[in-house]
Order: sequence, then structure tokens, then C-alpha cells
Amino acid sequence: MTLTLAEVFKEIFKTLKSKQIENPGLETNMIISYVLKMSNEKIFIQKERRVYKKTLNKIYNLINKRIKGVPVAYLLKNAYFYSNKFFVNNNVLIPRPETELLVEQACESIKNKKDQQILDLCCGSGCVGISIYRKLQHKPQIVFSDISREALRVCKKNLMRFRIKKNSTIIQSDLFHKINKKFNLIVCNPPYINYRDFLNLEKSIKNYEPKKALVSTQNGTGHLKKIIKDSKKKLYEDGILIVEIGYDQSNEIEDFFKKHGFNDIVVLKDLSGIKRAISAKWKK
Ligand SMILES: C[S@@+](CC[C@H](N)C(=O)[O-])C[C@H]1O[C@@H](n2cnc3c(N)ncnc32)[C@H](O)[C@@H]1O
Repeated sequence: MTLTLAEVFKEIFKTLKSKQIENPGLETNMIISYVLKMSNEKIFIQKERRVYKKTLNKIYNLINKRIKGVPVAYLLKNAYFYSNKFFVNNNVLIPRPETELLVEQACESIKNKKDQQILDLCCGSGCVGISIYRKLQHKPQIVFSDISREALRVCKKNLMRFRIKKNSTIIQSDLFHKINKKFNLIVCNPPYINYRDFLNLEKSIKNYEPKKALVSTQNGTGHLKKIIKDSKKKLYEDGILIVEIGYDQSNEIEDFFKKHGFNDIVVLKDLSGIKRAISAKWKK
């Protein structure tokens, strides 16, 4: 059996649409171009090209997993973040667009400074630290740290993909437990979802993304509070901590920063107007 690329596209699009996949056109393109190793433009130009049974089976195999709920990023082992293409698998959170706020704020706060020491805490795929590194003109030294050995394997692949191994160190650690130095900037997107909200998440997140990347104790603020409290010993004078927070946590976390003596507190909103990150300066 063979089909033309146009026929394959039409069939896959129809299947994904009927299963209420949000962007059926985009995902059809992504899956076909992944299996055929062709750019989207080439698929369009070569729409009469014939696709043979073996290739069709590979495509159908991915589509079957997709309609069962596996996120497309895990199927294709790639996700875009801050215009960079990261390797991902189901040991790491799929990078979210709102997290790009951390990269923007981090780069803004140290943009003209040389010899900066940065910690990407709870780094997962490494997307935050790597994007900061790529954006900054004066290249910093970055420590990437996560509790999950499997996540750090993914991070290592990305450090190699973006050729920043020389300027980076990987440390497996439960938050600051094994971090024995100080930093000018700590950036962190920790788990911050409370268990109740976790149960209501859509299936493709709840069933496929790692729970330890999402859920925290104390109504979701457990990791955040520990990070704020313990970061004081890990920041140089005037060092900055930037954390991502949950949609309903800004008042509580802002107060917590104040209670622990941080200054210059800035609450940052994402593109939907949700208070999504907090940056604060540490002064003794
Ligand atoms: C929300 S994900 C963020 C991943 C990545 N920074 C991003 O923004 O896409 C949180 C990460 O924290 C890690 N994590 C969870 N508990 C931790 C702990 N106690 N210490 C260090 N890392 C932890 C998880 O393994 C996961 O990779």
C-alpha cells in the first residue's frame, strides 16, 4: 500500500481532529516531518511524493500513541523553548512558554555583568539555564541541578547539543543539599502544584509528565518556601533569586520573600496577565 504525502496528511489530520487534539494541522506536520526527516516546507512542495508501507506504519504507530494521550513532544523527543529545540523525554517536564519569563528576567538582571555564577535549580531538561547562557553576551558559568538522575541525563544531552559543557557543571541534589558554593543568580522553576489541582490536570499532563516535576507539599508552596529560605546561604551579597510560582501563590510567596529579608521584590506577569514569577535581591 502506498499513499501520497497529501493523502497521508489529510488522513492524519482527520484522525487527530476527530480526537479533539488542539492543533491537528501543526501536529500532523510535526509527526510527518519527524518520520520522513523532512522540513514542513518540503512536505508541502513534495505533496505528490509516495509514502510506502514501512514509513506509513511508523507514522500510524506515533498517531496511535498520540491519540491515547502521549504528548507530541515525548513522541518526537523534542520541544521548543525560547526558540531553541531541546531534547526531552518522559523524565523531564515539557518546557512551558510561560517559563520563558524566567529567562527574560534573569538576562535583564545580569546583562552587562561579567564572570557571573548562575545556578539553574530544579533544572529538568536544562532549558532555562541553557537559554540564559545562549542569550547573554558575557558567558556565565552555570551549575545545573536536579534531584532526578534521569532528568540530569536529559540535561547533559542538551548541554552537549548546545555545546556549553565547558561552562557548566551538573550536580544531582535535593534542592541545595549538595550545592557547596555561592551564586550571583539562582533561577528556579520548582514543582509548585498542589495535589488537588494535580488531580484535575488534563490527562496528557497527569498521566505522562513526571509527578515529581509538578507537585509540591504545603498547598504547592513547599519547595518554593524551602528554596527561598535556604537560598540566603547560597547567594552572594546583592545576589538575585528568581522563581516561577503557581497562578494563586503570588501574595503568599511575596510575603515569604519579605519575611526572609529579601529586597527589590518584583512580581512578573506572563502573557495572559497571570502573576507567574518573582525576582528578589538578597542583602544581609
Ligand atoms: C517544574 S520542573 C522544571 C524543569 C525545568 N526547569 C523547566 O522549567 O522546564 C521541576 C523539576 O524539579 C525537580 N525536582 C523536584 N523535586 C526536587 C528537589 N527536592 N530537589 C531538586 N530538584 C527537584 C524535578 O525533577 C523537575 O525536573
